Amino acid sequence: MSESGCQEPATRPGIPSVGNRVTVVLGAQWGDEGKGKVVDLLAQDADMVCRCQGGNNAGHTVVVDSVEYDFHLLPSGIINPNVTAFIGNGVVIHLPGLFEEAAKNERKGNSLKDWEKRLIISDRAHIVFDFHQAVDGVQEQLRQEQVGKNLGTTKKGIGPVYSTKAARSGLRICDLLADFTHFSERYKVLARQYQAMYPSLHIDMDGELARLKTYVEQIKPMVRDGVHYMYEALHGPSKNILVEGANAALLDIDFGTYPFVTSSNCTVGGVCTGLGMPPQNVGQVYGVVKAYTTRVGIGAFPSEQNNDIGELLQSRGKEVGVTTGRKRRCGWLDLVLIKYAHMINGFTALALTKLDILDVLPEIKVGVAYKVDGQTIPYFPANQEVLLHVEVQYETLPGWNTNTTAARSFDELPENAQKYVCFVEEHVGVPVKWIGVGKSRESMIQRF
Ligand code: GDP
Ligand code: IMO
Ligand code: MG
Repeated sequence: MSESGCQEPATRPGIPSVGNRVTVVLGAQWGDEGKGKVVDLLAQDADMVCRCQGGNNAGHTVVVDSVEYDFHLLPSGIINPNVTAFIGNGVVIHLPGLFEEAAKNERKGNSLKDWEKRLIISDRAHIVFDFHQAVDGVQEQLRQEQVGKNLGTTKKGIGPVYSTKAARSGLRICDLLADFTHFSERYKVLARQYQAMYPSLHIDMDGELARLKTYVEQIKPMVRDGVHYMYEALHGPSKNILVEGANAALLDIDFGTYPFVTSSNCTVGGVCTGLGMPPQNVGQVYGVVKAYTTRVGIGAFPSEQNNDIGELLQSRGKEVGVTTGRKRRCGWLDLVLIKYAHMINGFTALALTKLDILDVLPEIKVGVAYKVDGQTIPYFPANQEVLLHVEVQYETLPGWNTNTTAARSFDELPENAQKYVCFVEEHVGVPVKWIGVGKSRESMIQRF
């Protein structure tokens, strides 16, 4: 207490202590970097794993005891029976998709035991309806017809549902659990708006509403006020809280290669807005980087290799989308874009995955700068026309021509593989904490 009678600032009730620190895992390229695997590894010591943005456009693979699980909406960490999984307000939820995903993974093994008791859903999360997914398809078709090019979306309704959220006509989990008659009326208003916009669209309103009603009792025990839930988790007893980013920096609605992006913030800001937590609670921010680059869908890709190298990376890396089954485009590692992702996210360390895929290459190129009109540019261009025409400056590093999949420590990696890792960390200015040399949990080398 000061002489004036005021409490000392630090003890005022309005200024609570920072509370638990949250570890964040984010994609640093165009997605599919191996976030699921990194999250699974960290989830072994976690109490809570959260998703803060995106929907079931994400596809995260986790391999445990040779069983391959894929997660789209459920946080991958749910595979650890001690973990509580939290889907925050920034996520968009297709309820049939959520239950199908859980059932599919449950059939594969024992790892999803009691998942319904371990899943918490924010009441502020928006609902993806079947018609959002249908509209996604129609919009893609129209783009193709009208401008000769679509976006290559996953057709999971992501663009349409975030549009209705921004237009303030969306419906949330809290609406579904309140008065179903009122919910149905608002649902029909929204559906009719889309029907008026796209006359060819057929929407089975009564059918979808009947299906949605069946989920009400099922999800009721899982739903909480997400802000209060998160606050209690942050300020209760010490907890290990992990956030699993979906999609990736170059797909971010603000910072990605717009318009060839998704519709949410997949960078660190999305963690606070998508969970309702203050930035002070963010601790480690881990960037997941694939040892080369891949992209699914349309859009500029400066280091893409439309040649034997691209094909080799695609086939050795089994680069096929988990959500859509599309072949991923492949190219050399591009450190210009990793540095750009670091400027936005402030990575505290990196996980470099799929190093083993490079095992057979005699030499490996790494993009280190972009030139425009013969001049090196010190930034990542916003304009897609510029990005399409940048000249990537490469450094060529010697390969290692050795199988690395059995390596379990940094010292066990061939010297040239070690040099490749050091080149990445020195160029980006962020330490590489993990190196992936295979799909399984064990095939992740931890350096410190
Ligand atoms: P996410 O979306 O970032 O979680 O990544 P995906 O699961 O879509 O794609 C990554 C793919 O690479 C999955 O099939 C993983 O099993 C696989 N993978 C992850 N890390 C490694 C690694 O270090 N080596 C190899 N060979 N495969 C890996
Ligand atoms: P994970 O979490 C790779 C891409 C789509 C498309 C664009 C827009 O597995 O890394 P959308 O359906 O979101 O409107 O599609 O974004 N995309 C992804 N690409 N991995 C992802 O997620 C992606 N999520 C969206 O291919 O180009
Ligand atoms: Mg993926």
